Amino acid sequence: MQTIRTLDLLRSGLAELRGDRSRIALVPTMGALHAGHIALIEAAKRPGTRVVASIFVNPKQFGANEDLSRYPRKELADTRMLNDAGCDMLWMPPVDIMYPAGFATNISVTGVSDGLDGAARPGHFDGVATVVTKLFNQVRPDTAYFGEKDFQQLAVIRRMVADLDMGIDIVGVPTQREDDGLALSSRNIYLDESERGRAVALPRALGVAAKSIAKGDPVDDALNAARETLIAAGFTIDYVELVDAESLGVPDATRDRRLLAAARIGTTRLIDNLAILPA
Ligand code: PAJ
Repeated sequence: MQTIRTLDLLRSGLAELRGDRSRIALVPTMGALHAGHIALIEAAKRPGTRVVASIFVNPKQFGANEDLSRYPRKELADTRMLNDAGCDMLWMPPVDIMYPAGFATNISVTGVSDGLDGAARPGHFDGVATVVTKLFNQVRPDTAYFGEKDFQQLAVIRRMVADLDMGIDIVGVPTQREDDGLALSSRNIYLDESERGRAVALPRALGVAAKSIAKGDPVDDALNAARETLIAAGFTIDYVELVDAESLGVPDATRDRRLLAAARIGTTRLIDNLAILPA
């Protein structure tokens, strides 16, 4: 696997990878890779497809009080994991390629970006949409893979690709979890032992609420019970909400719905979500 850090080498490397007819699949990441990221690489590996991963810790998607400066960076281990997983190329642009002096463009997707994490983290999804547009334009992939773990992010990218005729197939990959159910996340390493023990309340509370909503219990009761479970485990809640799985707007029991939560334990913010399918 080649690691590439300049646009010239990216262009020539991609031409070589494409050869006569190979399709290019892109897996964008911010590094500190774990089995969740590797599941995206595995999903992307298909006959006739070459897999490009990117690692870029995108300053534009971190708020002023967020964890940009302490975000884990593990270039050596990441490179090894991607190579072992059969990734064909790693695109690791330096920050001055992504945001050269004078950079002045912002991609903003309204609607799906407005609630949930969009409300809790102002500007976050503009940062995501802008950097993903750049990565798409640099790599020009045929397909791109994103995790359902970041469900709203996936919805924002799908909307943007459709609205701007980007012509890239966006594939969502199910959330990969620890044995006890905690969603894998680069941020889990911030958790101390006690926090890690209590963090499992997040997937459990969502699981209980999802079951209860699926069998027709009042939604507000299920959401409130989940909130109480999280508070009892020591979480500070950003949101626990049920939305339409596509628009992320008002849910309708005859359509796919999604239960999403974001909550902080100590200084670590965790997110998770579950599907609720129509009966
Ligand atoms: P990052 O948090 O590194 O995640 C990269 C990709 O891995 C995202 O599509 C995310 O949803 C997926 N992922 C993370 N944990 C996962 C899990 N437990 N199961 C399945 N997939 C998982 O998301 C970002 O980076 C950035 O916002 C990015 C899209 C790269 C733009 O900067």
